[in-house]
Amino acid sequence: MSVRELSFQTVYDVMYKDKYSNALLEANLNKSNLNERDRNLANNIVMGTLQNYLYLEHVIAKLSDLSYQKLSKSVKVILTISLYQLFFLDKIPEFAICDEAVNLAARYAGNRSKSFVNAILRKAALMKENQSMFLDQLSKKEYLSIKYSFNMNIINQLYKKYGYDKLESMLKAINEYSKTSIRVNNLKADRDELIRDLRCEGFVIDESEHPDCLYISGHANPSHSRLYHEGKFNLMDKGAMELVLPLEPVEDDVILDACASPGGKTTYLSSLMNNKGEIHACDIHESRVSLLQGNIDRMGSKNIITHVKDMTILENEFFEKFDKILLDVPCSGIGVSKKRPEIKLKYEYDETLLKTQKLLLEQSTHYLKKHGRLLYATCTILPCENEMMMDWFLKNYPFKLVKMEFIMPNENSMGFFYSLMEKIND
Ligand SMILES: C[S@@+](CC[C@H](N)C(=O)[O-])C[C@H]1O[C@@H](n2cnc3c(N)ncnc32)[C@H](O)[C@@H]1O
Repeated sequence: MSVRELSFQTVYDVMYKDKYSNALLEANLNKSNLNERDRNLANNIVMGTLQNYLYLEHVIAKLSDLSYQKLSKSVKVILTISLYQLFFLDKIPEFAICDEAVNLAARYAGNRSKSFVNAILRKAALMKENQSMFLDQLSKKEYLSIKYSFNMNIINQLYKKYGYDKLESMLKAINEYSKTSIRVNNLKADRDELIRDLRCEGFVIDESEHPDCLYISGHANPSHSRLYHEGKFNLMDKGAMELVLPLEPVEDDVILDACASPGGKTTYLSSLMNNKGEIHACDIHESRVSLLQGNIDRMGSKNIITHVKDMTILENEFFEKFDKILLDVPCSGIGVSKKRPEIKLKYEYDETLLKTQKLLLEQSTHYLKKHGRLLYATCTILPCENEMMMDWFLKNYPFKLVKMEFIMPNENSMGFFYSLMEKIND
C-alpha cells in the first residue's frame, strides 16, 4: 500500500469509523512494508491532517461551488489529506500531490469525482501564499475554532473562562509538537546506563530537569526497543509524571489506583515506593486489566494487586483501607489531543461522563482512612471536568483542598489537571 493510500484509509477510519488515530496508524504502518522515510511521511500526513482538519474543511468549503456537506466522505478525506500536503509540507511538488489525489479519487470515489478533486486542488495551489483571507470575516470564536481546529463545543466552554488571548495561547500549545518523553524505571535501570544504552541503539536522548524523565527521538518507535521490552523504561508524558508526585508515595503506603490501566502512573507509584507497600490497581475492563498486568510484569513491580472492578459501585472490601487514592478518571482528553487529534474535532458535552466522574469521586470517599489523601486527575482543560467538579465535590464531602494545579501544555509536556484533597473528620 502506498503512503497516500495508507494515509487516506487511516484518516477515513478515524473520521468515519471512530478508530483511535495513534493506535490505528501504528497498526497500519506495522502491516505495511513502507521504508523509514515513507513511514515518517505517512505519520506526518495523517497526524498533520487530523491536527488541522477543521481548517482544511473550511478552506475546501470556501473553494468549492458544491456544498461541502454534500461531498462524499471519500472525497472529503482525499481533499483534506491533499490540501494538508499542499499548505503545510514544503518538499512535495504540487503536481505530485494533485496526481496522487486524482488516482485516489478514481479508486475510492468514482471516476466522476476526479475532475472536481483536481479543480479544488489547482485553485488551492493558487491561494497557498494568501491563506489569511480564508480566516477573514470570522467571529473571534469561529477564528479560534477554525485556525486551531477545536470544535465549537470546546471553544464555547473555554472562551467564557479564559477570553480570547489566553485561550489562543492554550490552543496553540496543545497543538504544538511536544517531545516524546520516557520514564526511567528505577526498579530496573540506572539513568546514566540507560542513556548510554539507548544511544547505542541509535536514539537521540535529551536530559530533562525531572529526575525520572528523558526526552527521546530518533529513527524508530521507542516501544520497539529491546530496553523497553526489558522494562528499563516506560513511555510516559512528563506532565503525567509530575501529576503523580503530589501524592508523595512512601514505602509503607497502602494506595488505591482506581482507574489504573494501562498503568503508567501505577508503575510509577510502585517505583517511587521502591516496590514496597501495597497498591491496589483497578480498571473496569478485563482487557484493560490484562494490558495493565502486562506492563506491571514488564516493569518488574511486585507491590501491585490488580482487580477488574467497576469503581462507580461501592466495594465493601476497600472500606477505609487506603492512605492515599489516585483517581485518574476517564475524561474528554482535550489536554492530550496532540496524541489523538480527533478528540478536539469530535468532542461533545457528555453528561454520562460527568456522572461517572462524580460517582468515582463519591465512592472513593469511603475507601480513605481519616486524613488520607485523594488525588483527582484528568488530562483535559475543560472546567466542567476539573475546577467545577472540584467545587461540587468539596461542597458535598468532608474534604479540604490541599493543592489544585493545571499542568499547562508546552513543548515538553501535554496538558493535565490535578486536585489533591485531604479527608477530614465527618
Ligand atoms: C485516564 S485512563 C487511566 C490512565 C492510567 N491511570 C495511566 O496512567 O496509565 C482511565 C481508565 O479508567 C478506566 N475506567 C473507566 N470507567 C471506570 C470505572 N467505572 N471503574 C474503573 N475504571 C474505569 C478506563 O478503562 C481507563 O483505563
